[in-house]
Amino acid sequence: MQYRNFGRTGWKVSEISFGAWGIGGSWGHVSEEDALAALHAAIDNGVNFIDTADVYGDGRSERFIAQVLKERSEQVYVVTKAGRRLDPHVAEGYNRKNLTAFVERSLKNLEVETLDLVQLHCPPTEVYYRPEVFGILDDLAQAGKIKYYGVSVEKAEEAIKATEYPNVQSVQIIFNIFRQRPAELFFDLAKQRQVGILTRVPLASGLLSGKMTRQTTFPKDDHRNFNRYGQSFDVGETFAGVDYDTGLDAVEELRALVPTGVTMAQFALRWILMFDAVSCAIPGAKNPAQAIANAQAADLPPLSDEVMAKVKAIYDDKIRGLVHHRW
Ligand SMILES: NC(=O)c1ccc[n+]([C@@H]2O[C@H](COP(=O)([O-])OP(=O)(O)OC[C@H]3O[C@@H](n4cnc5c(N)ncnc54)[C@H](OP(=O)(O)O)[C@@H]3O)[C@@H](O)[C@H]2O)c1
Repeated sequence: MQYRNFGRTGWKVSEISFGAWGIGGSWGHVSEEDALAALHAAIDNGVNFIDTADVYGDGRSERFIAQVLKERSEQVYVVTKAGRRLDPHVAEGYNRKNLTAFVERSLKNLEVETLDLVQLHCPPTEVYYRPEVFGILDDLAQAGKIKYYGVSVEKAEEAIKATEYPNVQSVQIIFNIFRQRPAELFFDLAKQRQVGILTRVPLASGLLSGKMTRQTTFPKDDHRNFNRYGQSFDVGETFAGVDYDTGLDAVEELRALVPTGVTMAQFALRWILMFDAVSCAIPGAKNPAQAIANAQAADLPPLSDEVMAKVKAIYDDKIRGLVHHRW
């Protein structure tokens, strides 16, 4: 495992970290045994940073993390999120009363006195234009409830706006072979403003693992089934917003670039790490084998300029038109 600076926090975080949405089991079944074993396997392989949220499995993900960390002596940073318990999910809901209650609930689930970092969970864009929301987060930090705060955003423009607030320490954003615009628009600025970047959905919901085909089906309760067209939440969260069949065609072209002995998932993760503005990728492992394979991507050699150019050409040809100007 290799480690990178996480913005201005002083933390050194594992390049490949752990995304804990899947183990919450709010979409697709993941057994308790697999969830706990996946977390242990990640930590065994050098992962020291876990991304979760209060809504993942309605707290199941946070509680699993607490359970595992009680059995470990390593320093592991846990970053969670607040906001998605709001119903309706509106800007007005990001107020002192609600944010305080969400933070208190995560403190309980994670069994800690201070949250390492809390992220606004893809709030409506309007929230980034309400300095009072960031003032509330400053107050929660002052009160010792949270150490740091950041944002999880849908769009690169939201990342630019959010990082105008001086105490925003991190931005979580979708960035992968099928979602390249953040690098063009935001990464230089992120370095200048010294914010940590967590790249989520790094495998385009598993599409970039190369294991899916036109015959693959997903269970009813899996967002790759029920949110395929954005019926439940932002369509960009499922397959990174790429039409499934087009994505499969692009994956076929990518296969030729994957070195022997390396999986396509590892290749996709290594591609993300080629960008030095990135602090970590947070692939969502659902079992120990996935967690181990993902962690190993951090130790692969860098990709050549030629391979990077070929990936860019596949993106430009097949994917750019579908996603580039939508997020
Ligand atoms: N709004 C937000 O803030 C937000 C939204 C989405 C995600 N996130 C965060 O980002 C994390 C990652 O996103 P994600 O889980 O949606 O997508 P992802 O990491 O792109 O893909 C995860 C899926 O890929 C498959 N997979 C993982 N490792 C694999 C491997 N080594 N080989 C083959 N297949 C593998 C698994 O699917 P199978 O079921 O096919 O095994 C897994 O569910 C989440 O866990 C969460 O922490 C945040």
